Amino acid sequence: MLHRWQKKRTHFPLIIALVLCIFLVCSILLTERSIQQIYGEDHRHTSLKQASLLKSTVLANSTFPSTSPVVLDRFTTCRSTVKYNGRKPGWMVTPKSLDPHGSDGSCDVFSGKWIFDNISYPLYNEQDCPYMSDQLACHKHGRSDLRYQHWRWQPHGCSLKKWNVIEMWEKLRGKRLMFVGDSLNRGQWISMVCLLQSVIPEDKRSMSPNAHLTIFRAEEYNATVEFLWAPLLVDSNSDDPVNHRLNERIMRPDSVLRHAALWEHADILVFNSYLWWRQGPVKLLWADQANGVCEEIDGLGGMELAMEAWANWVASNVKPLKKRVFFVTMSPTHLWNREWEEPGSEEGNCYDENIPIRDSLYWGSGSDLPTMQMVERVLSLLGSMVSVVNITQLSEYRKDGHPSVYRKFWEKLSSEQLRNPASYSDCIHWCLPGVPDVWNELLFHLL
Ligand SMILES: *[C@@H]1O[C@H](CO)[C@@H](O)[C@H](O)[C@H]1NC(C)=O
Ligand SMILES: *[C@@H]1O[C@H](CO)[C@@H](O)[C@H](O)[C@H]1NC(C)=O
Ligand SMILES: *[C@@H]1O[C@H](CO)[C@@H](O)[C@H](O)[C@H]1NC(C)=O
Ligand SMILES: *[C@@H]1O[C@H](CO)[C@@H](O)[C@H](O)[C@H]1NC(C)=O
Repeated sequence: MLHRWQKKRTHFPLIIALVLCIFLVCSILLTERSIQQIYGEDHRHTSLKQASLLKSTVLANSTFPSTSPVVLDRFTTCRSTVKYNGRKPGWMVTPKSLDPHGSDGSCDVFSGKWIFDNISYPLYNEQDCPYMSDQLACHKHGRSDLRYQHWRWQPHGCSLKKWNVIEMWEKLRGKRLMFVGDSLNRGQWISMVCLLQSVIPEDKRSMSPNAHLTIFRAEEYNATVEFLWAPLLVDSNSDDPVNHRLNERIMRPDSVLRHAALWEHADILVFNSYLWWRQGPVKLLWADQANGVCEEIDGLGGMELAMEAWANWVASNVKPLKKRVFFVTMSPTHLWNREWEEPGSEEGNCYDENIPIRDSLYWGSGSDLPTMQMVERVLSLLGSMVSVVNITQLSEYRKDGHPSVYRKFWEKLSSEQLRNPASYSDCIHWCLPGVPDVWNELLFHLL
C-alpha cells in the first residue's frame, strides 16, 4: 500500500481514502484486540502506578528540552522496538483553578435532542461555499435525501445562542482562530470557513494552499481561520498533511515543539485528537534516544502521554486573558448497525441511514469510555484554562450524518464494492452542511 501511495504522492485525498480503508479494516480487525488491551486491567494499572511514582520523585521542570532532537518525518523508522517501561517526561502539570470549564453553571448545552427544522437549517448551502471539500459534499456526490442538513440541536432547559455571522466576525476581529488536529477537526474548520465566508467579498478573502498550516484570511476584519494538521498533537512521523504515515506511527512523547511553534501565535485554539489513537499500538521515540530505540505502547497509553505533553504546553504558555483554548471531544463513528438496530436486521453500517437515533442513552462502542475518562482527567488539571466542547453524545445520535457512499473516492471502486455499498461507506467523517456546523455553533455559544 505504501508503494501505491508514494507513486501518487500528489493525490492528497488518496491518503484520506487510504486512512479510511485502513481504519475500517483495522477497526474491524483490531477492535476486539484493543478492547482487550484497554480493559485488560493488569498491565495498564501497573504502568500507571509506576508513572505516578516516577512523577513524585522527579522534580518538575515545566519547560521543554531546549535542544531539539532530530526531526521526525515520514521516513523515520525505529532501529529496534522494546516494550514501554512506564517512563514519563520530567514535568508535572500542577492543577489549576478547579472551576468547571465551559459551563456557565446554569445549563449543560451538550445534553439535549435534535429537532427537525427546515426553516433555519442549513445555515449555508453546500454549493455556495467555494471552500467545500469533495470528501464532505454529500449532495454534490449524489445524496438525494437532504434531511441530514435540517437538524437543530436543542439543549434541555436552555437554547443555544443563535448563530450570527457578523457577531462571530466581530469576535474574530484582529485575531487568529486556529483548529489543530486530524481530519475530523479539518471538517470542523471547513464548516467554520463555510459559515463565515459568505459575508466577505471575493476580493477581500483568500485561502493559502493546503499545507501543514492552511490559512483562510479576511482582510476587512484582519482575521484568519486556520487549520494545522497535527493528528497526534505531539510531534510525530505522521505530521505531513499529504504523506502521513500509518503503518509505523512514531511519536515524541515529550515534544509538541514543531506544532507549537505555529499554534503559539493563535488567539483562539481549537484542538482535537482521538481516532488516530484507535488503530493499534504506537511507538515512542524519546528526544534523548539518539540510537533509534523505540518503545511500543497501546493507543490509549500513547494518547495519554500526548495529552500530558499538550497540557504541559498549555499550562506553561497560555495566559488566560490573552488566549482561549478549546478541546473538542471524540467524534463518534457508526460502523456497526447492530448497535442501534433491532437484533436480526441485516448487517450494515451508516449506509442508508437517514434519521437520528432517538434513544437518548445511545452510546456506540466506537466512543471509548476509558479514553473519555483520561481526557477528562487531563483537562481537569488545566481548570478554566481550557473549555471542553463535548460533542460526543450529541453526535452519537447522528448515524444519518456521515457521507457513506456520497463523497469523492480517490481510487476506482471495484464492481464487487459497488455491489455492496456498505463495504466502502465512510461512516467516520460528516457531511456538510451538517453536524460540524452545530459543533461550531457550540463554539460560538461558548466564545
Ligand atoms: C531543568 O532544566 C534545566 C535547563 O533547561 C536543567 O539545567 C536542569 O538540570 C533541569 N532540572 C531537572 C530537575 O531536570
Ligand atoms: C419542511 O418539512 C415539512 C415536513 O417534512 C414539509 O412539509 C415542508 O414542505 C418543508 N418545508 C420546506 C421549506 O422545505
Ligand atoms: C492585524 O492583526 C494582527 C494580529 O493578528 C496585528 O498584529 C496587526 O497589528 C493587525 N493589523 C491591523 C492593521 O489592525
Ligand atoms: C462529555 O460528556 C459525556 C456525557 O455525555 C461525559 O460522560 C464525559 O465525561 C464528558 N467529557 C468531558 C471531557 O467532559
